[in-house]
Amino acid sequence: MDSFKNYIFFWLIIILTWTATGTDGFKPLGRFRQSSALVGNKLYFFGSSVIVQSRENIILDVTLSTLNTSNPLWFLSNSSVPTNSAFASACVGVPFKNMIYLLEHLNTANDVSNNIIVYALDTVSGTWSIPIMSGTIPVSRQQFQAVNDANGKIYMFGGFMSSNPGGVLNDINIFDTFSLTWTQGSNVSAPTSRADFTATLLKNGLILYLGGGDNINMVEIPIYNTYNNSWSKMIATGDNIDPRNQSQQLASLDTTLNPYKWSVKSMIGNNVPPSLVFHSAAIVGNFMILAFGQKGVNNAFDSNNLNSQLYILDTRNYSWVTSTSTSPNSPNPQNPSVTQIQTVFASNSNSLITGVIMAIPIISIVLLAIAGFIGYWLFKKNKRNDIVRIAGSKNTG
Ligand SMILES: *[C@@H]1O[C@H](CO)[C@@H](O)[C@H](O)[C@H]1NC(C)=O
Ligand SMILES: *[C@@H]1O[C@H](CO)[C@@H](O)[C@H](O)[C@H]1NC(C)=O
Ligand SMILES: *[C@@H]1O[C@H](CO)[C@@H](O)[C@H](O)[C@H]1NC(C)=O
Ligand SMILES: *[C@@H]1O[C@H](CO)[C@@H](O)[C@H](O)[C@H]1NC(C)=O
Ligand SMILES: *[C@@H]1O[C@H](CO)[C@@H](O)[C@H](O)[C@H]1NC(C)=O
Ligand SMILES: *[C@@H]1O[C@H](CO)[C@@H](O)[C@H](O)[C@H]1NC(C)=O
Repeated sequence: MDSFKNYIFFWLIIILTWTATGTDGFKPLGRFRQSSALVGNKLYFFGSSVIVQSRENIILDVTLSTLNTSNPLWFLSNSSVPTNSAFASACVGVPFKNMIYLLEHLNTANDVSNNIIVYALDTVSGTWSIPIMSGTIPVSRQQFQAVNDANGKIYMFGGFMSSNPGGVLNDINIFDTFSLTWTQGSNVSAPTSRADFTATLLKNGLILYLGGGDNINMVEIPIYNTYNNSWSKMIATGDNIDPRNQSQQLASLDTTLNPYKWSVKSMIGNNVPPSLVFHSAAIVGNFMILAFGQKGVNNAFDSNNLNSQLYILDTRNYSWVTSTSTSPNSPNPQNPSVTQIQTVFASNSNSLITGVIMAIPIISIVLLAIAGFIGYWLFKKNKRNDIVRIAGSKNTG
């Protein structure tokens, strides 16, 4: 009988767990400064600046034949993040591109580390580990976006160092997820120090760093060549793109042209997003998916006004839509030219001191205030019309 009871108990647990974490209407609350990474048709989100959410690992099923904004398929993973996470950056690495590497500045005791901390999530087993790393382990940082290539290398540039001595960085460091080794990239002709930019890897091996706090000019684009580890820059032509402290704007960058060319797009469609800061953006097929972040009202943002809705951009015609089913997993995305930018001005910095990270020195508040300025997203138009790269998570903007 005992074992029968246990059996019943076991199934109760299973059912309860399944109900709590399964398909039956789990809807995450709004959050901000999470990080995200796409593995297969699962978009993983880690942490939040809302303390009770700061270890949450939630998953969105982004299968294009069913994804819609009215009833998105969310899961709460039981594989919680090992530390309170915000301002981190998540990338995908080997083996089999099913490992997510979370580049953190907080250790499990939630202290800001002097060196970058890496937590690895095996998305198959759902287990986290702390890789034993070698090489020149870079200083810890936040408000950066790292980017991975197809060969298991993660490129981490710039960001803001909140630990001693503090300050904005411009070093580039490369983490090889095969050997778990860090090496330094080139510093010759490196761009100025910056944080709160986006990083986009094109198919030709070039990483474009767009925007950043302190009104980084959108016309002069720093480029890191991952094939020969060298910096260059491109002066883009086309429409005038506001720096990221200005009002909302949607723009694209055509990287098939030399020089690259900006064009501003109008906000059209039946599900146009509000101004957002500290949200996430991911490219899936023809679509860009926006999630979470703080919503702006009259260009003011605060941590009481958090977004829990999804917003989906059809990159074929820059229309904001409620469903991706017009493109049932089309293998040939057509013409997803360019980039999307949404810039806003955030005047309210209250939210910046209420998050997980209470120990930030005063100076960073200024940086954080500039931080939100939003994600934008870059695609590349090429002859095959492939989308080139995900502008991944923008934990900071
Ligand atoms: C929206 O997505 C949910 C979850 O995948 C699905 O069950 C539902 O049928 C979808 N609705 C529409 C209108 O596609
Ligand atoms: C998470 O749930 C899975 C089953 O869904 C189970 O196998 C695993 O042990 C759980 N992990 C933790 C850390 O509880
Ligand atoms: C650039 O890198 C080289 C080699 O790692 C180093 O010796 C030098 O000090 C660096 N220069 C700057 C300006 O950081
Ligand atoms: C790297 O490759 C680019 C493009 O082929 C070339 O223009 C540049 O000079 C190379 N840089 C170095 C340092 O080899
Ligand atoms: C954004 O920054 C630019 C350059 O510093 C400045 O001229 C402009 O007034 C700022 N815009 C807002 C809305 O603060
Ligand atoms: C955008 O393209 C999709 C797919 O072709 C189509 O369903 C939708 O109606 C278009 N929207 C606009 C505003 O043209």
